Amino acid sequence: MIDGFEPGEHLGALGRTQHGTSVALQPRDGRVAVQADDQHVAERPRGAEVAHVPRMHQVEAAVGEDDAGAGGTARRQGGLQGRNVGGHLGERHVEEDSGLSGTRKRCSLTPRVRPGTRPRTMANYRRRRWRDAMTVQLDLNGVLAAAVGADGIGPQDLEDLAPRLQRIRADLVTRRTAGELGFAELPSRRDDVKKVIETAAAVRSEFDTLIVLGIGGSALGARALTTGLTGAGEPFRVVVADSIDPDAFAGLLSEVDVKRTLFNVISKSGETPETMAQFLVVRDHLLRELGAVDYRRHIVVTTDATDGAMRQIVHDEGFRSLTIPAGVIGRFSVLSSVGLFPAAAAGVDVEELLAGAAHMDARSRAAESAMADPSLVLGGVLWLLGARRRKSIVVTISYTERLVATVDWFCQLWAESLGKELDREGRPVEWGQTPIRAVGTADQHSQLQLWIDGPRDKVVLFLRVEDHATTADIPAAYQDLESVGYLGGRELGELLNAEQRATELALGKRGRPSMTLGLPAVNAFTLGQLLYLFEWATIAAAELIGVDAFGQPGVEEGKRLAHGLMGRGGFETRREEVEEWLARKNPQFII
Ligand code: PA5
Repeated sequence: MIDGFEPGEHLGALGRTQHGTSVALQPRDGRVAVQADDQHVAERPRGAEVAHVPRMHQVEAAVGEDDAGAGGTARRQGGLQGRNVGGHLGERHVEEDSGLSGTRKRCSLTPRVRPGTRPRTMANYRRRRWRDAMTVQLDLNGVLAAAVGADGIGPQDLEDLAPRLQRIRADLVTRRTAGELGFAELPSRRDDVKKVIETAAAVRSEFDTLIVLGIGGSALGARALTTGLTGAGEPFRVVVADSIDPDAFAGLLSEVDVKRTLFNVISKSGETPETMAQFLVVRDHLLRELGAVDYRRHIVVTTDATDGAMRQIVHDEGFRSLTIPAGVIGRFSVLSSVGLFPAAAAGVDVEELLAGAAHMDARSRAAESAMADPSLVLGGVLWLLGARRRKSIVVTISYTERLVATVDWFCQLWAESLGKELDREGRPVEWGQTPIRAVGTADQHSQLQLWIDGPRDKVVLFLRVEDHATTADIPAAYQDLESVGYLGGRELGELLNAEQRATELALGKRGRPSMTLGLPAVNAFTLGQLLYLFEWATIAAAELIGVDAFGQPGVEEGKRLAHGLMGRGGFETRREEVEEWLARKNPQFII
């Protein structure tokens, strides 16, 4: 067992075995192999960083040698190239690496390690080189007229967009300073994060399952984080239950060991009927299974600090609780305790996540102009394609399963924030782009035909990951059959990424615009950037359209009608309205 390596370590980075000897990540045959847990294998080309290996407990010495026994240190030290092993605090190690891309210098600071203690490693996101290497990038080439012709964006469009975005950028600074953009400050709300981390640490020792009860913005962010950032080896299970389907919900409750399960009720308003109904069902279940004393321990409530029925219930019952800051609404709350607590419970490094968001924020602030800010440009270009090129559908296709739930989250953000009848002055706009979630490569064999040959009403946004956490080699076989044999010796992630490129070009060749958001890897840092980028892109688009991104008047009407149907006091006229409408249905047209 070797401990002390972190995602992003350079070749040559030091670790310590259980026997107290120092070892380093070493190249063999032009690659370095790293094994984390039993099933998590990552291989990186020599000269690259070892990136996003979330739980690296074992480094096999192809690292390749058995680390047990005397002599291990000498062997490993002998394998190092121009490096000093067993460094002291602050000691600077310089490695000459004649890797694939030519000779380069590598520098690393190695902490002092006292015998028998775990080496302290600096978090990767505190290292500038690692942050640079993990920066999310927006590739606009596929939307340019130069690539796709008339449906693309030409130089004049960009010239027109630039001053508009510049004005919006200035307005948003003012609004942010005035405290109108609560979501923007979430990466720096230290007190909230501390409480989230402490509560998560406590519940991880008490329980092994967390079930989130919430819906919409109170569920999708938590699912994006937990499915995006936890792997098969994570012992603590988080389930986001945003369904009130009786079969599904009762099935879930019957399947879990309630003694080992915590429920996190999340609702900003504290009165959403789906979430309140789930809470009442769960509370009753817990009372019956655990009794009136113990059941309280199994509920954590995340809600507004002062308002709403759930806050009142917290006061009355004494449940543990977390707060959603004022001015932060559901779909913009992923970086608040709404998303952070389930994520931290699932073992996600939420500090790294927030550092990613802060990194995107810093990039935006440092951008020379609005046209150099990826968030504003993403929002601006999507708006431009909608307003000037009639692209009324945004297809977001993820070429990693890890980000599929993030796409769901983005779909809600884009739809609910921008789909508005009236602008802020009350003038009709009826603007919005329908977001579609797609998965690469499955949807190439399902929907791509429509995108390529069907109506010219779509823009495709690719999510591409350079370095997938797992390396899965495709074994060579059937070499005499060219249609199968050529795959042998390649790798699944390589095929996945080749398919993404091929689809991008295929769309472009047919004049269909696309953009690509490229992630060097999926980890908390890159996901933090992505979420924050999407939030600002949505705000930028809302500004261009002139609508309020934070309201959802259309949804409210449906809620009032449902309240009436379910007999909530004060909504009697809504009930009558629904009953009259049902009575008017013509049975002739029910066939
Ligand atoms: O984005 C939103 O604001 C909505 O999707 C809400 O999150 C959703 O309606 C749930 O609301 P609440 O958190 O008040 O229960």
